[in-house]
Amino acid sequence: MTGRPAGGPAGPSGARRNREADWNAWPVGDYLAENYRQLHPVDRGVIAHHSAFYRQFPPGTLARSLEFGAGPNLYPLMLAAGASRRIDALEPSDASVAYLRAQLTAPDASWEPFWAVCRGLDPSLPERLTEALARVRVVHADARSVPAGTYDAASMNFVAESVTEDAGEFRDLCGLFIRSVRPGGRLVAAFMENMPSYRIGTGPRWPAIPVDEDAVRAVFAPHTEELRITRLGKDRTLPEYGDSGVVLLRATRTTDGPDGPDGPAGPAAPTAPDLSP
Ligand SMILES: C[S@@+](CC[C@H](N)C(=O)[O-])C[C@H]1O[C@@H](n2cnc3c(N)ncnc32)[C@H](O)[C@@H]1O
Repeated sequence: MTGRPAGGPAGPSGARRNREADWNAWPVGDYLAENYRQLHPVDRGVIAHHSAFYRQFPPGTLARSLEFGAGPNLYPLMLAAGASRRIDALEPSDASVAYLRAQLTAPDASWEPFWAVCRGLDPSLPERLTEALARVRVVHADARSVPAGTYDAASMNFVAESVTEDAGEFRDLCGLFIRSVRPGGRLVAAFMENMPSYRIGTGPRWPAIPVDEDAVRAVFAPHTEELRITRLGKDRTLPEYGDSGVVLLRATRTTDGPDGPDGPAGPAAPTAPDLSP
């Protein structure tokens, strides 16, 4: 793909790192228009997968769950609301945080078809979408600020592979995601498969790294058990992002998770935001 990069030039290695992109300038309106203003086949696939994950837990039995890099996507938050009493939607971008905060009480009508699918699969979800979203708290923070071992479950959708061109940083972001849950905590995720850096509309290029099932397994297997990786085929109703589909993951963090001295994520950042109840 061509086009100017979002936020700045690549570092010396040529691979742009997460902090080199201006996430505050994330084009929320264009991203929604391209991906979420209508329900695409791939959304149905991700929703079915994640709904089955959350239906393992009786309603309300997860005290706290995390949406890691929530962006402006509401359907992962809807799905978590059956099992979770509280959902922290972690997101560093001013633009996405502003959108999310407004949506919690007055969601756009375009989310209704997503809600209908989520609720059809999980009748234990509340009757109204706003009741489900009342369990969500928006946390304006970076992934590096998540305190380790905090959550019962965590979900990550199109983040670690879609925010950096650097393989080590992809691993580190996955490590932060894994260790955000307590040992025995549960993980669910979706990754764009084989997607290079991409553009939204006619905007600048955003950094991404192509990953596949093997790359995801290599990062998660050492720190998880009950690891289940599947994939969805390419959705040709979406814009051409250069991907070949979506990789889906479910796993449980092992006791010997990535908190140890050799863990991929390193120490928690000293600037952890207030995530207390
Ligand atoms: C491709 S979007 C995916 C958004 C959303 N999860 C979805 O399902 O559509 C990538 C998201 O990751 C967020 N992000 C970028 N860098 C991050 C970081 N260091 N920590 C947490 N989130 C980050 C971006 O602001 C953006 O919302």
